[in-house]
Amino acid sequence: MSRTKIGVLISGRGSNLQALIAACANPDFPAEIALVVSNKPDAGGLEYAAEAGIETTVIEHDGYHDRESFDREIDVTLKAAEIELVCLAGFMRLLSGWFVETWRDRVLNIHPSLLPAFKGIDAHDQAIAAGVRISGCTVHIVRPEMDTGPVLVQAAVPVMPDDNKTSLAARILEAEHRCYPHAVRLLAEGRIEIVGERAVLNTDTTAPSALIHPATDG
Ligand code: GAR
Repeated sequence: MSRTKIGVLISGRGSNLQALIAACANPDFPAEIALVVSNKPDAGGLEYAAEAGIETTVIEHDGYHDRESFDREIDVTLKAAEIELVCLAGFMRLLSGWFVETWRDRVLNIHPSLLPAFKGIDAHDQAIAAGVRISGCTVHIVRPEMDTGPVLVQAAVPVMPDDNKTSLAARILEAEHRCYPHAVRLLAEGRIEIVGERAVLNTDTTAPSALIHPATDG
């Protein structure tokens, strides 16, 4: 079985990266992490990658005069590693329209809310402030606008009356760690078709993937 090559982009702690590393350790999992890229040299996730023997690269955005030139460096790095699928795992930078279109339908993101509710960096605070009883997490295909794009997997998580940001984030994070590997599996097995802006599950597991193929220029 040839496994889909994933590049994981991180900025910090890297617990979702850890969940993906654990999933990929199963020889039956249809994807492998070939590269981890961080835009922060002190991202904790870099250590998890190194421990797992995964190649890591730091590309600091400060060194680039605009968003697209930083993204072009990431693009070149991913292509050099023959990456087929990009997973944003706590990567706290908006990617340019150029990058998202170059890698169209091959960039995933995880967000700690039931999108389209509570986009942005303070999703847990937004959920608590709105008084919702249920929040959760979403794995979606990335489009240029922040936290938008076809939804692949979601999990609902209760919001308790005495929750604060920390307690809610911890409960949602457990669900994130289950959802991200599941979404990667669906894509790597070629079971997702994008119809309009919806990700539709294809039940024919023998169908070749319409989505996973190396990015090309332009
Ligand atoms: C996760 O909760 C992820 O959903 C969130 O950042 C955290 C990263 O944690 N991402 C976003 O809010 C993106 N909008 P991790 O570094 O431990 O995986």
